[in-house]
Amino acid sequence: MFGLGCMRLSTAADRDEARAIAVIRAAIEAGASLLDTADVYGLGEHDVGHNERLVAKAVSSSRELRDRVIIATKGGLIRSGASWRTDGRAKHIRAACEASLCALGVERIDLYQLHAPAPDTPISTSVRALLRLQSEGKIDRIGVCNVTVDQLEEARSICEIGAVQIALGPFAEQSFRGGVPEHCRSLGVRLIAHSPLGGKRSRARLVRHPVLRAIALEREVSPALIALAWLTDLAPNVCPIPGATRVESAMELAKLPGLALSEEERARLLAALPFGRLLASERATRRPGSPDGEVVLLMGMPGSGKSTHARRWTDQGYRRLNRDEHGGRMSALHGMLDRWLASDTRRVIADNTYPTRAVRNEAIETAWKHGAIARCVFLDTPIEEAQINAVLRMLQMHGDLLEPSDIRRASKRDPNTFGPDAQHRFLRTLEPPTTDEGFESVERMPFVRAWPKSYRGRALFVELEALRRSRSGARAPLSIEDQEVLVARADRLRDHQRIIALAWLPEIASAETTRERVLECFRAVVAELEIEMELAYCPHPAGPPICWCRRPLPGLGVRAIRTHELDPASCLMVGRSPADRTFAERLGIPHRDEEDFFRA
Ligand SMILES: NC(=O)c1ccc[n+]([C@@H]2O[C@H](COP(=O)([O-])OP(=O)(O)OC[C@H]3O[C@@H](n4cnc5c(N)ncnc54)[C@H](OP(=O)(O)O)[C@@H]3O)[C@@H](O)[C@H]2O)c1
Repeated sequence: MFGLGCMRLSTAADRDEARAIAVIRAAIEAGASLLDTADVYGLGEHDVGHNERLVAKAVSSSRELRDRVIIATKGGLIRSGASWRTDGRAKHIRAACEASLCALGVERIDLYQLHAPAPDTPISTSVRALLRLQSEGKIDRIGVCNVTVDQLEEARSICEIGAVQIALGPFAEQSFRGGVPEHCRSLGVRLIAHSPLGGKRSRARLVRHPVLRAIALEREVSPALIALAWLTDLAPNVCPIPGATRVESAMELAKLPGLALSEEERARLLAALPFGRLLASERATRRPGSPDGEVVLLMGMPGSGKSTHARRWTDQGYRRLNRDEHGGRMSALHGMLDRWLASDTRRVIADNTYPTRAVRNEAIETAWKHGAIARCVFLDTPIEEAQINAVLRMLQMHGDLLEPSDIRRASKRDPNTFGPDAQHRFLRTLEPPTTDEGFESVERMPFVRAWPKSYRGRALFVELEALRRSRSGARAPLSIEDQEVLVARADRLRDHQRIIALAWLPEIASAETTRERVLECFRAVVAELEIEMELAYCPHPAGPPICWCRRPLPGLGVRAIRTHELDPASCLMVGRSPADRTFAERLGIPHRDEEDFFRA
């Protein structure tokens, strides 16, 4: 079975309606039994529904033509300027589906697919919205696109999923390794292979591919057709939807159903595109019956503590495989694993982030290829602790907290230096490991924080704005003239030997003040209160954090703990905002509200 991907007939700058309709009809004549479209396939936000109207027009000439195809459309994306964004809210899915019914001119959509899970909306919300539309009779079958195995399972726990659409083709190795194709095959769910030829970008690669090209020459068809034949040959549930934009390409598809691959051709394709076996009945390699060797994947987010744990294995004689040490891409690292196992290395500890099934699969299969088993140890460190580790590492390596521009620069050559976004990125892509991927075992390691025993110092952390006011009512005083120091509060501070005033001063980033004026104001606070204290401040702007020093991120606290060898539990934080409370809790510092502390 194959279909036609209609996207480019509306998104191409040189689109032409008459040609597009001819392409769609030629594809149906060639045997395409599915037309894939979406509300957003058009030239931009003002062109929503263009592709659906086009598809409807192409099949409207005869009932017979219409009945030969399933029309599959999608909702869950929006166009905004040049970008395509997800919107998985139930409200949007309903509005999009109703607009698609209109654009397609039907009362019920054959197959309605969630275009992509939205990072900010649980997939269950989007899928429940689809289920409601189905129960109202507006959708016949429900599909999901671009999902992970876990997301697919979550969707299946809510309703029956009639089709899964993901990128699948000779240049989509990661999709094969991600486990969705194998999973769909075992469930018997239709697998719609989008961009099966790698899109327009891969045109040259496709034509030059040595094996596809050689077989194509022998068969007197295009390499594209051999790629499609390879896909449909892998499993009966696969339905590629090539995106022809020329009538000739669409007509060529007529040869696809009759293009049965010979055993010899299959073997050549398997050698050239070995990951295809992950969808075919056999896995690329099987778990060794009598294992000789072991590869331990030690995975976790940046800053989860992998390097420290890896030492436990290297101490036992395991050889360490780590991107930080060896550099390069993960595929190159797996090439190195392959060479190690092919020589006499039998025990390897591979400590890398390994967030997805796809990247883990390559390591597992490399181990199996050499008769070794694979185990997974998942450092399930909470992000709050991993943030502290990241700051500690930065202080060890660079001596201080780096400015955002320095973090960006350093992160290019040093994987141990990164901004707060790296850990959130890991969590967004994380597919938690499971034994069904091929691991012998998956062990989750909880994180336990242990500050050095020598850290016994005490300090009072206090928000600087609790010690002064702006006379003009500004968020913070930016000049001595505008600053009123709350001298009455000095008494409550006298008992504390070490006081660290914390401040957030984004007015430095916005050039409303300077670091010199900030220090001048701070010296005035110290002088008027007649109490010694040090200042630790974040000068960076609001918005997504780009530094480690804006609370509740732990940078300023970790630096103080390390510098003064503080015992967090013996310190106190006097704060005034939820961010202060969170900051203190994450570091294990007891917290009191400003009003409460100074009233006492
Ligand atoms: N769900 C999603 O997120 C998603 C994402 C991307 C795409 N899609 C779907 O996948 C469909 C296909 O993707 P795509 O258009 O990006 O890439 P594609 O199908 O991988 O590649 C299309 C290119 O292949 C060429 N081609 C060569 N021989 C062909 C033949 N015999 N039949 C068909 N095409 C041939 C086409 O040439 P000519 O143009 O010269 O005909 C076109 O340049 C889209 O139309 C869309 O429906 C879905």
